[in-house]
Order: sequence, then structure tokens, then C-alpha cells
Amino acid sequence: MQQIVVALGDRSYPVFIGSDTFKELAVAIKKEFHGARFALVTNTTIQELYRSQIEQLQHSLDALVYAIPDGEKYKTIDTWSGILDTLLENRLERSSVIIAFGGGVVGDITGFAAASFLRGVKYIQIPTTLLAMVDSSVGGKTAVNHRRGKNLIGAFHQPGLVWVDTAYLSTLPEREFIAGYAELYKYAFIGGKEMFDFVMEHHDDMIAKKPGILQEGIRRSIAVKARIVSDDERERGNRALLNFGHTFAHALENYYNYEKILHGEAVLWGIACACDLGVRIGTVPEDSRKAYEALLKKPGMPELPDTPDCEHLYDAMFSDKKVSGGKIRFIVPTSPGKSIIKSDIDRNAIIATLTRIFKTQPAND
Ligand code: NAD
Ligand code: GLY
Repeated sequence: MQQIVVALGDRSYPVFIGSDTFKELAVAIKKEFHGARFALVTNTTIQELYRSQIEQLQHSLDALVYAIPDGEKYKTIDTWSGILDTLLENRLERSSVIIAFGGGVVGDITGFAAASFLRGVKYIQIPTTLLAMVDSSVGGKTAVNHRRGKNLIGAFHQPGLVWVDTAYLSTLPEREFIAGYAELYKYAFIGGKEMFDFVMEHHDDMIAKKPGILQEGIRRSIAVKARIVSDDERERGNRALLNFGHTFAHALENYYNYEKILHGEAVLWGIACACDLGVRIGTVPEDSRKAYEALLKKPGMPELPDTPDCEHLYDAMFSDKKVSGGKIRFIVPTSPGKSIIKSDIDRNAIIATLTRIFKTQPAND
């Protein structure tokens, strides 16, 4: 298996990346967490799809298994509380290890349960969606949603091990795959020129799930994230670059009530907006505009339920937790593979970008 280390001193941890690696998983876990008791958290969909694997893990690790309901709407304090009840009722201890087996929802909520159970226990991420592989399983952001917004209650708590097996992608619905691909695509704009060139060159093969290439794209994405998180774990500076396209995306998700659009789909639209804004305010040279627009035609823009209202989208940006001192932080591209954080952007420029992208939808011209 390939390995990347997220370097955080005595909290450093390995991310293993491979395909069809299940046979090696229990041994690797036991080696890393010798003598611990285990609890595995998944959701009902994954429990059904991967019943045999879960039963084998249950058996070989003597693990407690708990399945939460499937869906972002269950990423709540109530579900978190249900996990804690189960851990307490089964007398798991400070030395116990919790395993998150699922997509970003399972990973985020299980990570938060691990962060808070007995003031913090170790946990393992086994991501089963593309989004979770390239983004949410690495970096230690854990959270649940509040009725006032997404991910408003949570903690930074790094996993002790991440196990990425691309074989899980074979059962992932296509729409979820594309949504996850948006987060991989994002790294092309923030991960340096080499990452940019890699994504542009291998985009079609990755979308076609060509095994070696897709795994390499995932590995490179994780390497970029590991580097950024190692430098700025608590998002005091450059970690915000990981939110490329997200200021717009969060507004779009909010506009559609977090129901009609997947996060990654909103991120693809957000990337289009960020590129347009970069050209508009001059961080991207005008002569590169065409190149940036061509890039966005690559993944194609997911269909929207209706044309969003631009003023409403603008207002929605202020309810994001990334607003600081009343200013919205935008990440805008400067050159292939590079972006910067800007928070002093004029309202008119933002409205003009929203209007251009959502009223004329240039990315699909
Ligand atoms: P998800 O966890 O809801 O998974 C999407 C759907 O795919 C679900 O229905 C799930 O049951 C199903 N699924 C998962 N794996 C499958 C598989 N292998 N085969 C078939 N179906 C499968 O969504 P997601 O996109 O993985 O994650 C989104 C969440 O991640 C959001 O809550 C978001 O806030 C969070 N997130 C967190 C971070 C972070 O840094 N912590 C970063 C990005 C996103
Ligand atoms: N997905 C953003 C981060 O991990 O910081």
C-alpha cells in the first residue's frame, strides 16, 4: 500500500492508500492499536452493502458495531448522543478506539464522538466515498450540524489512522462520485502547478474511474491536504485554501435548503464562481480567462433545480461560519495550481460574478 504521513508531531498519523486491501485491514489496525477495544460506527446503507466485511471486522477485532441512519439530516446532536449512549452502555474505555466506516457524514459524526467521549479517544477513518477519501477523512475536522447551520458544533480531533481503499468506489452512485470529484478537482487550483497539470491531463481517465490513475489522483489530493494541514492545523492561515469554491458553494447549499443539491455539486459551481471572480478582480490575468473557463467545461456543471437569486446567494454568504469580522473570505486563483485568500472584495464584483455564472451559465456554453 502507498502511505502518506500527516505530520503533526506526536499526533502524526499514516494514511494508507490502495485497492482491494480488506484482507490487510484488521491486521494493520491490531498492529497500530494493540490491545485496544474497538467500536465500529457505520450507517445502515453501508451496513447492508458491506455486511460481510463488517461482520469479519466485528469478529477479528471483537468490535462493537453501531449503525446510524443514512443522510446529512441525521448529522445531528441526537445521532451523536446515540453513539455516546452505546459506547457508555457497552463500557468502552479511554483506551478504546472508534472506527468510522462510511462517507463524510459517518466520518464527521464519529470523529466528533471520538473527540468528546471520555474527553477524547482515538479513532480510525475508513472512507467509502470519494469525497471522504480526498477530503473529510484527513485533517481532523469533526462536527455535527445545528439547525442554524452546517458543522456548527464540533472539534479538531485528528484520527490515528486513515485507510483509503478505492474498491469501495465501485458501489458508489455516480452522482456521489462526481460530487466527490469536485473536491479532487479543487486541489488542481490550490495544490501547485504539478497537481494542476496532473488533474488537467488525467481528468477523463479519473472520471472514467481508470483504477491506477484515479488512485494516483486520490493519493496526490491527500498529499496536498496533508501538507496544508501539517502547516496550519487550526485554519489560522493557509488551511482556508481548502475552501476554494466553498464560500459560493455554501451559499448555494443554503439557497437550496441543503436538500436539492449535493455539497460537491455546489463546490463545482463554486469553483466556476471563484475563477470568474479571480479574473474580475484581476488576480487572474485577463488573458488566462479563456483557459480558466475551458477548465470548468471539463467536469461540466451539475444541473440546478432552478436559477438561484443572486441577491439571496450574496446574503447567504454572511451566514457562513467562515465570515470573520463581517467580511467574507474568498479564495481566488492567481495562476495554475495557486490561489490566495482575499476578504476585501467589493459587493458589486461578487454580484457580477454570481449573475454571470448563474444567469448565463458560461461554464456549459
Ligand atoms: P455521505 O457520507 O452522506 O455519503 C453519501 C451517500 O453515499 C450516502 O447515502 C452514503 O450512505 C452513501 N455511501 C457511502 N459510501 C458508499 C459506498 N461505498 N457505496 C455506496 N454508497 C455509499 O456524504 P459524503 O459526500 O461522503 O460526505 C459529506 C459530508 O462530509 C458532509 O456532512 C460534509 O460536511 C462533510 N465534510 C467534512 C469535511 C471535513 O474536513 N471534515 C470535508 C468535506 C466534507
Ligand atoms: N475541508 C476543509 C478542511 O478540511 O479544512
